[in-house]
Amino acid sequence: MSKPRYYFNEGNTKADLDFTNLGFDYFPCPYRFEAIYEYGVWRARGLVENNQLELPEGSQCVHYGQQLFEGMKANTGKDGNVYAFRPYENAKRMAEGARYLQGAAVPEELFVLGIEEAIAANLPFVPPYGSGAAMYMRPFWMGIDDNIGVKPARKYLYRVFVCPVGPYFKGGFGKDVGQQFMVGAYDRAAPLGTGHIKAGGNYASSFKPGCEAKAAGFAEALYLDPTNRRYIEEIGAANFLGFKGDTLITPDSHTVLPSITRDSLMFLAHKMFDWPTECRKIPLEELAELDAAACCGTAAVITWIKRIVDGTQEWTFEFDERWQKLYDTLIGIQNGDLEDPFHWRHEIPT
Ligand SMILES: Cc1ncc(COP(=O)(O)O)c(C=O)c1O
Repeated sequence: MSKPRYYFNEGNTKADLDFTNLGFDYFPCPYRFEAIYEYGVWRARGLVENNQLELPEGSQCVHYGQQLFEGMKANTGKDGNVYAFRPYENAKRMAEGARYLQGAAVPEELFVLGIEEAIAANLPFVPPYGSGAAMYMRPFWMGIDDNIGVKPARKYLYRVFVCPVGPYFKGGFGKDVGQQFMVGAYDRAAPLGTGHIKAGGNYASSFKPGCEAKAAGFAEALYLDPTNRRYIEEIGAANFLGFKGDTLITPDSHTVLPSITRDSLMFLAHKMFDWPTECRKIPLEELAELDAAACCGTAAVITWIKRIVDGTQEWTFEFDERWQKLYDTLIGIQNGDLEDPFHWRHEIPT
């Protein structure tokens, strides 16, 4: 289809949305990007308007969970340009997932073309600079054969839709909005399973512990390692971070999703602030020795942790200014307020 053209009344350049009060919710922007893999080749179909999918009923994604997704954000900078954050890292993570699920990986340039086109086509819906909101991107991949046997598909769909979003946890980031989490009674991933890739099935397994935590008044569930149920893994859809004295620590585990936000924060801590960093096993009881705790991810950004509860045990934490420093630096780089020394911003051609 030809490039979308928008016309505005009264000098507006944005859709009539209350960008400063958005939640983290689905919103049907007009366009999405689509590509198909069949006969051994990826074919970009370009922009489509329909937000419904039509799939063969035997599709592997439907029956056997041969499916992956990504979550990323783009921000409008002060200069008016729109920047995605490290999109090639998400492309690599999805390709790694596709290889693990024995399917055809989306080539990196096609992955990034998809997010570029989906954002550019929905420009009036990209939150403006200073609104506190961002454009969330949801690239996804699925096996879609006419099939009945338990085997990988030969045909795949890659699609990207986008939604303007506000904070994931109510209240966003701030000194007064620490969150409380409950140690879940169930695992989200098997010890040598799919925890390290962004396969939808991991998230279906997280509904029960997540819903139980929310019903008990907590923001999300904290996961322990599925082998020993002793070491901290991650929290909902976010990785765990802690400060032990001067050192920023995070769990080392095969079953944790390698978060691009976490990678960026650990890198900033080490390269920019010269703070010691460690990626290692963190037993739950070590929470008693931590000075501060937080979780991080595209959606959560950095969310500091006020309290963690496991049955009758609990650990409480205060806000730590180092979270603020990391948050301000990450957000500043993402929206163009700060220099981009590591070339993490990717300007979207609009
Ligand atoms: C299970 C899980 N852990 C961690 C993260 C954070 O990863 P990222 O920083 O790449 O968004 C996510 C979100 O994608 C997630 O779903």
